[in-house]
Amino acid sequence: MNEFQGFTKVCKYSNLKEKIGQRFIVNEIDVAVFKVDGKVYALSNMCLHQKAFIIYDGFVDDGKVTCPAHGWQYDLKTGIVAGGIKGLDVYEVKIHNDDVFIKVFEKKLNW
Ligand code: FES
Repeated sequence: MNEFQGFTKVCKYSNLKEKIGQRFIVNEIDVAVFKVDGKVYALSNMCLHQKAFIIYDGFVDDGKVTCPAHGWQYDLKTGIVAGGIKGLDVYEVKIHNDDVFIKVFEKKLNW
């Protein structure tokens, strides 16, 4: 199963609820996972505003997730914050049978 190299199984697809986020720690990376219209998205769970790990609890609509704390919005596909050019890290997702796999990476620091 080489195509799954680097991926970690996080949950069952059938256990994800439409537009209700779930939080997973994958290789020490905090990840928010959403199912929307049958597709699964995985983003960094840490809001860039106050570095709070709450994105999974956000409100999902119109292809975006809204941070529950102060309303910053992030595109589910790109992670980019509304009105900005940067955003949350976005992770690759694969679904095999009923299993959801995610490939995380460490945030790259700009020194
Ligand atoms: S912590 Fe997310 S908008 Fe403030």
